[in-house]
Amino acid sequence: MPTSIVTGGAGFLGSHLCDRLLREGHRVLCVDNLDTGTLENIEHIRGEEFTFVQHDMVDHLDIRESIDYVFHLASPASPIDYLRLPLHTLKVGSYGTHNALGIAKKHRARFLLASTSEVYGDPLVHPQREDYWGNVNPIGPRGVYDEAKRYAEALTMAYHRQQGVDTHIVRIFNTYGPRMRPFDGRAIPTFLRQALADKPITVFGDGSQTRSFCYVDDLIEGFLRLIDSDEHGPVNIGNPGEFTILQLADAVIAATGSASKVVYEALPQDDPTVRQPDITRARQLLGWEPTVELDDGLQRTIASLRR
Ligand SMILES: NC(=O)c1ccc[n+]([C@@H]2O[C@H](COP(=O)([O-])OP(=O)(O)OC[C@H]3O[C@@H](n4cnc5c(N)ncnc54)[C@H](O)[C@@H]3O)[C@@H](O)[C@H]2O)c1
Repeated sequence: MPTSIVTGGAGFLGSHLCDRLLREGHRVLCVDNLDTGTLENIEHIRGEEFTFVQHDMVDHLDIRESIDYVFHLASPASPIDYLRLPLHTLKVGSYGTHNALGIAKKHRARFLLASTSEVYGDPLVHPQREDYWGNVNPIGPRGVYDEAKRYAEALTMAYHRQQGVDTHIVRIFNTYGPRMRPFDGRAIPTFLRQALADKPITVFGDGSQTRSFCYVDDLIEGFLRLIDSDEHGPVNIGNPGEFTILQLADAVIAATGSASKVVYEALPQDDPTVRQPDITRARQLLGWEPTVELDDGLQRTIASLRR
């Protein structure tokens, strides 16, 4: 039975990854300091194959049993979290990634870094391909997250080149699904919370900025294909379907049957104007592409919120 470590395993994506790995027959060590994740996300998981370890990945973690896979997801991910925790975000991206890579090196495990489309910043190339180096403001408030992930990618490539660690980098584009926190500040949980309460839907700016939204199950499938592949360069995983934020608000209103109306609020600093993954590499290297359309994914997310 393979053993996997999932750092950030009590978070939104990490808990779905734990579920999937257990279904695939892995033993799972879920490591999380519960900064932005919750035990509620993993309370449904029972059995000897699952162990929760409360630990801050900024500190060294000694693992005695043999490990086959390290999935490194630990990091604040939502703007309201990383703007509240700027130093911690930089530390978990640097020391935390260093510690996670050290575990992979010691155990000769395969390693996957959860990177982000934010490494492209406010992109001047559209859609974004992996060979685009990005347009990031390193000293703006969002820079703590973007640069932490860029540094984590550099560290991961150095461990691969210098230490021969079997590393993989996934650049995740906006992903949504059950277990997102209603107040985490990201567009889909915010709009759903507002729509389900018939409250005004708060759109930043004029709502013409675009995003692409990937359903969580599709993303997790991409993680598993990538970590078992021979590919060491970064791979975009996201849904290339591109929507303006205003279109997303309309889709949420339609999906919930809400009486909510859109209201406009000031655009946050350095908010990217466009965001759409080019997934040619994921298609060619992994045979991966998303299967869940936005309307379907919204219905699944709404059903879980109502439950
Ligand atoms: N959800 C997305 O759309 C998205 C997009 C791009 C990248 N990502 C990346 O995916 C990963 C997971 O994101 P998420 O959406 O599940 O966010 P999340 O906040 O729900 O999960 C992050 C988890 O990491 C944990 N954590 C934070 N710092 C830690 C530390 N120092 N030690 C141990 N655990 C720590 C948190 O408690 C939380 O459980 C993050 O690395 C994020 O940057 C997510």
